[in-house]
Amino acid sequence: MNSNTIREKFGDDYIADEHTFIMGIDQRFTSHFADRFKGRTVLEACTGAGFTTISLARSAKHVFTIEINTSHQEQAIRNVKKAGLLHHVSFIHGSVLDQRILEKLPSINAAFIDPDWAVTGHDHAYRFINSNTQPPADIVLKKISGITENIAIVLPPLIDTKEFDHLPEHEREKLYLGEHLELFCLYFGALVENYGETEFHVPV
Ligand SMILES: C[S@@+](CC[C@H](N)C(=O)[O-])C[C@H]1O[C@@H](n2cnc3c(N)ncnc32)[C@H](O)[C@@H]1O
Repeated sequence: MNSNTIREKFGDDYIADEHTFIMGIDQRFTSHFADRFKGRTVLEACTGAGFTTISLARSAKHVFTIEINTSHQEQAIRNVKKAGLLHHVSFIHGSVLDQRILEKLPSINAAFIDPDWAVTGHDHAYRFINSNTQPPADIVLKKISGITENIAIVLPPLIDTKEFDHLPEHEREKLYLGEHLELFCLYFGALVENYGETEFHVPV
């Protein structure tokens, strides 16, 4: 990947491949998310190449981050090391849906969830219920709700918001880069600043 493009999106000469670059969240959004995690012990699902991990680690007390893909995790370790934050992050290899991994975690008091939306095939429609993200957003949210109620989950912008109606009371933030709606982030528990729909704008 071109280092200027990486620096523009993530803030330094980190490493990324095409997939982790596209999946990685822009630093102007990750630092905004991280503000809500100040001083917390955070479970992150999933690491990717570590771009949200870096922002969370700057703000949180400690980040335990789980990633299933070895190559993504290797990129993340190099990126977190480059950011000088290795001592704030524990990397766990495996699935966030694996109960044996979750049981070994120390006490955590917040979670950040960013599943992979890369969906292929004829059924290419973003949805939350019976989610087709990896891991499935609805399943991972339910699973992590058993560990902490303080959760932020990032979702694609094109989901019908009626799909969130059955969830516990939450804040649904729409995140814009210029005029473009890039992401939804749902916040639960103590991570909520205002219930209902809110917006965050990054000017371009
Ligand atoms: C959208 S990316 C995370 C990007 C990251 N937030 C960033 O900004 O760099 C989602 C990641 O989830 C990983 N993944 C998919 N299924 C998983 C599972 N069951 N457990 C843990 N990680 C998983 C993928 O390999 C991918 O790296």
